[in-house]
Amino acid sequence: MRDRLLQLLTESTNSFISGQEISTKLGISRTAVWKHIEELRKNGYELEAVPRRGYRITHTPDLANADEIKARLHTKKMGHSIIYKKEVTSTQEVAHELARNGAEEGTVVVAETQQKGKGRLNREWHSPSGTGLWFSLILRPDVIPQKAPQLTLLTAVAVTEGIMEATGIQAQIKWPNDILIDDKKTAGILTEMQSEPDRVQAVIIGIGLNINQQAEHFPAELLTKATSLALENDGTTFQRADVISAILKRIEQWYFHFLQYGFKEIRKRWESLAVTIGKEITAVTMTKTVSGLAEGITEDGVLLLKKQDGTTEYIYSADID
Ligand code: BTN
Repeated sequence: MRDRLLQLLTESTNSFISGQEISTKLGISRTAVWKHIEELRKNGYELEAVPRRGYRITHTPDLANADEIKARLHTKKMGHSIIYKKEVTSTQEVAHELARNGAEEGTVVVAETQQKGKGRLNREWHSPSGTGLWFSLILRPDVIPQKAPQLTLLTAVAVTEGIMEATGIQAQIKWPNDILIDDKKTAGILTEMQSEPDRVQAVIIGIGLNINQQAEHFPAELLTKATSLALENDGTTFQRADVISAILKRIEQWYFHFLQYGFKEIRKRWESLAVTIGKEITAVTMTKTVSGLAEGITEDGVLLLKKQDGTTEYIYSADID
């Protein structure tokens, strides 16, 4: 109910909406409307109430809870079920558990902070409270496990487009799935899978996105290579719910496209958004360092590196300089 009330109030941000109209649209009494409005005020919303005109939101706190996200979503599946937690070890762990217990496709787990945020290659993911978006999404595509990496690339496209739509800031992808602004990392994606030998049961896509951190919020060693959307916007912050809802919307669009038409268009879009492609780069893998021209990616997201001797090296996992 609260998300539908927020939706009504948000859709009429510049104009008033009467208590009567809210009560009719939501099918609840005027007293119930008033109680919900008081509850919103307790949660940090500021609302103007004018006799005979109604209510108008004048300040929305930066909350990334289920009500705020749902109030902005018009999706068919993504985010229909949102589990919001103040603190978790990792949203990936919670989502895995939910997926094992049959959670529906599109379920999102979002947390204010993670005690043990996980990055790629078993790295730690710094997840301070209240400034970023730390969330995991459950998908259940009917595909073979080998296709799962395509969903990581699909997500990178969706996150990049979602950021640009919600903030107007230009973002790019660095292979395999870092999202960069001005050459600094602002988001990362971690894809994990539950599967049988020939069928995926669930894909858990974890997305970590730095949104409102200021410089002092970053550990010193990260400042040269990491950034937040606010830092790239002269310190002015964003509503995290605007950003996550834009991303979920894009994931849904591309995911439905993927299920119907496959990966071809997504790969093209990925390559057009990728900063890595067409550049001379150095890939540091677990076993060696290879330099060459990044030519593109394969259907599975493997990076094709053309070396000076003319041969092409397939890079499966590496850090890129
Ligand atoms: C990377 O190394 O770039 C991937 C980082 C992914 C971090 C996100 S935050 C939400 C989800 N929960 C985790 O523990 N990790 C992912």
